[in-house]
Amino acid sequence: MDSEYASAIMLYNGFTMTRNNHPTITLAITGASGAQYGVRLLEYLIQAECQIFLLISQAGRMVLRTELDLDVPTRPIDIEGLFRQKFAALPHQIQVFGQRQWTAPIASGSNVPQSMVICPCTTGTLGSIAAGLSSNLIERAAAVMLKEQRKLILVVREMPLSVLNLENMLHLARVGVVIMPASPGFYFKPQQVADLVDFVVSRILDHLAISHDLTPRWGLDDL
Ligand SMILES: Cc1cc2nc3c(=O)[nH]c(=O)nc-3n(C[C@H](O)[C@H](O)[C@H](O)COP(=O)(O)O)c2cc1C
Repeated sequence: MDSEYASAIMLYNGFTMTRNNHPTITLAITGASGAQYGVRLLEYLIQAECQIFLLISQAGRMVLRTELDLDVPTRPIDIEGLFRQKFAALPHQIQVFGQRQWTAPIASGSNVPQSMVICPCTTGTLGSIAAGLSSNLIERAAAVMLKEQRKLILVVREMPLSVLNLENMLHLARVGVVIMPASPGFYFKPQQVADLVDFVVSRILDHLAISHDLTPRWGLDDL
């Protein structure tokens, strides 16, 4: 199994998929409230044997500390170690890059992953992507997804939304970006916060075409 993920290193040589067809996904965690969504998604992507490129903004680290008491180190190699240990990831399964690490494979269209999710996504990062900026690696990776016409999902969290926020979302939705506001449903009778988190994460996984049984399905399971 380890060697399967070692083969993911071949992404550096131009492969967009691991040799064993594990999905390759960029997950960016920015500084919006809802850090739990991002961490739970990461946990599930690891379980689902995805190859993950992980990016965390400076504000994202602050919110992870505020909301989850999780102290995320600054060095990419230490962040890899933290999450590898926390979620029992395999060697090479998570690769973390800094916000100025322009040598990262995801900075180039020649090495683009299958999908990218920004979860949670701030209105600031939303606005930068809508304006076509690439001033950090999260924005650049998203710009690459857009130009290469790959799946980009933004889990935006803010309330209320300004006209500018709404226009930015519409603008991006029109060019194929999936806008998934972090707004869980209540029709499945959630009992705890974790159920609400899983609701949002399960809808993201559906859009990534990753099978899961995180939440019951309307019309199929007893609710
Ligand atoms: C605890 C906390 C919660 C925040 N919640 C939100 C939020 O829900 N939505 C948002 O757009 N910004 C939120 N912010 C503000 C962003 O973190 C801030 O605008 C930051 O510059 C975003 O940078 P980033 O997009 O690079 O992560 C929050 C900040 C903190 C410290």
